[in-house]
Amino acid sequence: MDTAALSTPASRVEADVLGVALAEPPALSASARELDEALGGRLARAIEEGDATGRRGTATVVHTDGGAAARRVGLVGVGPESQRDADTVRTAAASVSAAAGETRGRTVAWLLDRETSGLEPTAEARAVVEGVALASHDTGRWKTDRDEAERVTRLLLAGEDAPGTEEAVRTAALVARWTNHARDLVNAPANELTPAALADAAAEIAARFETLTIETLGPEEIAAAGLGALAAVAQGSHNGGRLVTLRHEPTSAREDLVLGLVGKSITFDTGGISLKPADNLEEMKSDMAGGAATLTGLAAIAELGLPLRVVAVLAAAENMPAGHAYRPGDIVRAGDGTTIEVTNTDAEGRLVLADALLHARGAGATHLLDLATLTGTIQVALGDLYAGLFGRDAGWLAEILDAAGRSGDHVWPMPMHRSYGRFLESQFADVKNTPDKKRGSSSIGAIFLEHFAGEGPWAHLDIAGTAYLDRARDYYPRPGATGYGVRLIAELATALAADR
Ligand code: BES
Ligand code: MN
Ligand code: ZN
Repeated sequence: MDTAALSTPASRVEADVLGVALAEPPALSASARELDEALGGRLARAIEEGDATGRRGTATVVHTDGGAAARRVGLVGVGPESQRDADTVRTAAASVSAAAGETRGRTVAWLLDRETSGLEPTAEARAVVEGVALASHDTGRWKTDRDEAERVTRLLLAGEDAPGTEEAVRTAALVARWTNHARDLVNAPANELTPAALADAAAEIAARFETLTIETLGPEEIAAAGLGALAAVAQGSHNGGRLVTLRHEPTSAREDLVLGLVGKSITFDTGGISLKPADNLEEMKSDMAGGAATLTGLAAIAELGLPLRVVAVLAAAENMPAGHAYRPGDIVRAGDGTTIEVTNTDAEGRLVLADALLHARGAGATHLLDLATLTGTIQVALGDLYAGLFGRDAGWLAEILDAAGRSGDHVWPMPMHRSYGRFLESQFADVKNTPDKKRGSSSIGAIFLEHFAGEGPWAHLDIAGTAYLDRARDYYPRPGATGYGVRLIAELATALAADR
C-alpha cells in the first residue's frame, strides 16, 4: 500500500472514499464543516436525517457528486469521547477501507482531525495507516482467481499538516507491511511452510538488508550441538527441524544492550503422540506465529535502520506422531544438560524454546523476549485481544508494557509465583515438561521457560489467543493470522534504540 500525507484541503483530495470521523452524538467538527461547505451541506443532512449516527465503527457513505475531488465521503463513527483512542481510530479507518472495497475503490483518504479523534495528528495518522493496511490484507493468496480490485492500494492523509506526520505515516506503513508479511507466513499451510521453508523465508529477508546475517542449523547440526529438546520434537517429522539465528548489527548501536528475540516456530502442531482432537486442528498451522513475528519484526528493525543490536532465534519443527516420533515418558537433554521428562508431547513449544533461549543467550543477548503460541489456557484467560506477559525483571516488563500500549499489540501481565514450579517436579529427571492438570498452565509454562532463560532480563509473551483469530474483530475483518507482535517488536526496539 502506498501512503502519503498531503497538505491539500480535504475537498481537493482525489480518492474513492474520503474517511471523516464522526463523534457520537453526531456533530461536524470545524474541519468537517469546511468540507461540508464544499459539499453543499450533504454531510450535515446525513446527520439530520439519521443516516450517520457516530456509532463506533459504522460508516455511512455519502456521494460527493463533484462537490469534492473524492467520489464519496465515508462518515465513520468513533463513538462517545470516553471511548476514543488509537484502537477506535484503527477500527474506524478499517470500516472506511471496507466501504471502499465494496465499491471496488482502491484509493482511500482520511481527514486528520484532532477535534474528533482526540489524538495528536501523528498518532492519528499512524492509527489510520495501521487500520487501513491491516484491514485490507488479503487472506486469499491461494485462490486461483483472486479479486485484486477489492484491495485498497493507496492511502492519503489530509487535514492538519503537523510536523512529523509524514515520518509517522512512513514508519507505520513500513511496520504494517511487515505485519502483513508475518500474516502471510502464518496463514501459509504447513505443506508449504515447513521448517526448511521458514528458514528459506528468513534467508530471503536476511539477503535484503546489509545489517542482517543468518545462520541455520539443520537436523544433524541440531543433534551435534546437543540441542536435545528441539531435536526430540523435530524427530517425528520427515520435514526436519531448523534452528535459525539472525543478527542485526548496524554500524552504530548502543554498547550495553543486545536485544534477543526468540520465536516458537512449530510449523504444524498435531500434539504428536499426545495427539490433539480433530476439531479446528487446521488452525495449528499458526503455531509458528511467534517465529513469524520475530523474523518480520527483525526485518522491520533492519528496514527502519534502528541503531540497536538484535539477535533473533527461530526454533522450527513440525510436531508429528510417527514411528520415529518422541513419546510420553521420554527423557531428553537440553543444550545446558538439563534432563527433561516429556509427560505430554503436546507441550512441545517449551521444549524447542528451551534450546532456543539457551542459544540466544549464548549468542550474546542481554535482554530476552520470547513470543510463543504456548498454551490454550491463555486464550481462555485473555481471549483474542491481550497476550499474556510473564517475567520477573520489573524494568524490562515495564519497557515491554509501554511499547505494547503504543503499538496496538496489547499485553497483560500474568503471575509467575515460584510455587507453580512444584507442578514441574519429575520423579525421574530434573524437570518434566507438563503439569498433570491444566489449571495454571500458562504460568507453569512460563516457569518452565525461565529455567532456560539464563542470567539477565527475560520476558515471555504467550500469544496463543492473539496470533490467529477464528472470527473477525476490530480492524481484522477476516479471521486468520493477525501478525501479532510485529508492531510491538518494532516499537520496543525503537524505544530501546532511542534510550541511550
Ligand atoms: N500450540 C499449542 C497451544 C495453542 C492452543 C495455541 C490453542 C493456539 C491455540 C501448544 O503447543 C499446546 O498444545 N499446549 C498445551 C500445553 C499443555 C499440554 C500443557 C495446551 O495448551 O493444551
Ligand atoms: Mn502442542
Ligand atoms: Zn504448540
